[in-house]
Amino acid sequence: MGIPQPAFYIFKCEQSSPPGMPKPSCVNPQTQDLFQHLAQTLMQKGLIATVQPIRTSCMNRCNVGPIMLVEPGHVMYSGLTKAKIDEIIEKHIIGGEVVKEYVIPEELWDAPITPADMMKQMGR
Ligand code: FES
Repeated sequence: MGIPQPAFYIFKCEQSSPPGMPKPSCVNPQTQDLFQHLAQTLMQKGLIATVQPIRTSCMNRCNVGPIMLVEPGHVMYSGLTKAKIDEIIEKHIIGGEVVKEYVIPEELWDAPITPADMMKQMGR
């Protein structure tokens, strides 16, 4: 028996805009402890070995941040707060049901284009 792979990876955007940048970002003084909250909650529940939280840079959905991506499933959550993270852990990560009301709007997260199709579109 090998080391089990994680059941989930949670990619939390940890990008903050430099001061003076008009563009919104996922981390600002009000949201800067969300990753810590996520990781601590997973730890307290004993899930950290099978649910791996990962800090990432910008995933280009800044306008609806703070965001995080749950894999497998390509489920992008937006507008995060600590309470929403708690609910996502309970309902999605433990309970197996995506929390639809916190999923990013479809027009901002449409179906992916396969790399092969992308190359065709680019004429390569
Ligand atoms: S700063 Fe988080 S998606 Fe861009």
